Amino acid sequence: MKDKEIQNFFYRLSQIISTFKDAEDMCTEVVNLIAPSSDFKRAIIIMKGWHGEFHTMAVSGGTREERVELKHIRCNDDTTEFIVKAMKDRNAVVVDFLPKELCSSEITANAIISTVISKGKEMGVLIAESDEVDETKVQVMDSIARYVSIGLENHTIYTEWMENRIKMTHEIETLQLMYEIGKEILSNLNAEEIIETVVLMIRRIIPCDGVSMAVVSEDDRDALKVTASWGTGMDKGEEIGSDAPFFAILKKGKSFYQNDITLDFKNSPILLKWGGEKNVYSYFCAPLMIKGKLFGAFILSSVRPAWLTNIHIAIIEKITTQVGIAMGNAKLMEDLEEIFMGTIKSLIAAIDAKSRWTKGHSDRVVNYAFKIGEKLRLNKDAMERLQLAAILHDVGKIGTYEAVLDKTEKLTAEEIEMIRKHPAQGADILMPLKGLRNIIPIMKHHHERYDGAGYPDGLAGDDIPLGARILALADVYDAMESDRPYRKGLTKEAAVEELKKGAGTQFDPAMVKIFVDILNQG
Ligand SMILES: [Fe+2]
Repeated sequence: MKDKEIQNFFYRLSQIISTFKDAEDMCTEVVNLIAPSSDFKRAIIIMKGWHGEFHTMAVSGGTREERVELKHIRCNDDTTEFIVKAMKDRNAVVVDFLPKELCSSEITANAIISTVISKGKEMGVLIAESDEVDETKVQVMDSIARYVSIGLENHTIYTEWMENRIKMTHEIETLQLMYEIGKEILSNLNAEEIIETVVLMIRRIIPCDGVSMAVVSEDDRDALKVTASWGTGMDKGEEIGSDAPFFAILKKGKSFYQNDITLDFKNSPILLKWGGEKNVYSYFCAPLMIKGKLFGAFILSSVRPAWLTNIHIAIIEKITTQVGIAMGNAKLMEDLEEIFMGTIKSLIAAIDAKSRWTKGHSDRVVNYAFKIGEKLRLNKDAMERLQLAAILHDVGKIGTYEAVLDKTEKLTAEEIEMIRKHPAQGADILMPLKGLRNIIPIMKHHHERYDGAGYPDGLAGDDIPLGARILALADVYDAMESDRPYRKGLTKEAAVEELKKGAGTQFDPAMVKIFVDILNQG
């Protein structure tokens, strides 16, 4: 290199170093400046990662294939030892051989290795291959390495400053996220939907190339099944067997960070697929523990090595703990609701069955209500509410004595009072079940009359919920048609006549018209 060339070279180098940018981009520009040139055939910067392993930061010169290959070198013990030894001498050293992993295919006579230092510690090496080495080249390489060191230090200071700012923003965002997760879980008890939402939320605040959620498979406790996936290359429903290296660690409730996938992908099909097809370089798994047991795991992946900071890891762990607690509660609620619903349904069946007069009543009411709802073109949600309310409409009778329900003689005022309490009692029974709260108005008002003379609240006209107006018709019609201990059931025609008579007083006339049409068609 001539003096003028050296001057130009360092002018360009100082421009690269003084511009803040991604450390990897900076290193790439530096190596591209060095090689290929008349002095150097190839240049490579290798840096130490978080866990003491080495990875290629930038490479230039040689053939394209070589660059690709060198970019993906995984330093083995010998290479690592070579680099560590070369780094110890902080001044540039000249070697006449390189380990084969670091070599280009051509036989290179010499290479200059200079040490990159950050915060007073040896952090990596800059290797430049050259056919001929002289004192000037060594000095130039030494200076370049120092420039790179300053550049990386500036970059670290800048990154730390940015990270502190980001940390604050992140804390606010994490709080917001926690709130959203909480809200999501409180308003939605479906575990699958919760998981999908949380995966999307994690994506928003953690820089990564993919996030998946896997849950412990129900049929095989020693496998995880992917339930939500974005960008990791895992498919929904795919199984991760216990041979995955992180499985045992997750089971202990600990998270797992692997910044070089090749170190443990040998026996795991899922990791082989990642390493081979998906270009995943590193991944992080956090367990989702529910009441001390492994329920599932969040898996984040990256096409870069060592991409997560401690702050990111802390945030992910915080989120998974929070989700675990919340889902534990959600699951408990789900289990309780299931048990409760089951109990109530069997009680309804028992109420219907304990008296031969009311056997199958609830089922028939559901059937009539469904037909009316269909004619009204109610939407899916409204139909579901209507049917559920129809099944449960007399749940309040659980508290009414059998003797009163089955009585053949005229009821006393006290007994009538007792029976009239059943809609309100039903509302009290269902109130603790969050998932059933929206059917309470339908169930509670199925004995209101259109003219306002019904019970329990004396609502009139359109103040009575539509579902309740439908249910009133279906309920009364079935009661009229059925035999009772004190009277025989009416014929269909007679019952229809009664409905018509009640239009506008007992029943909503519009509903009567629809129902009568349905009955006449059937
Ligand atoms: Fe009733």
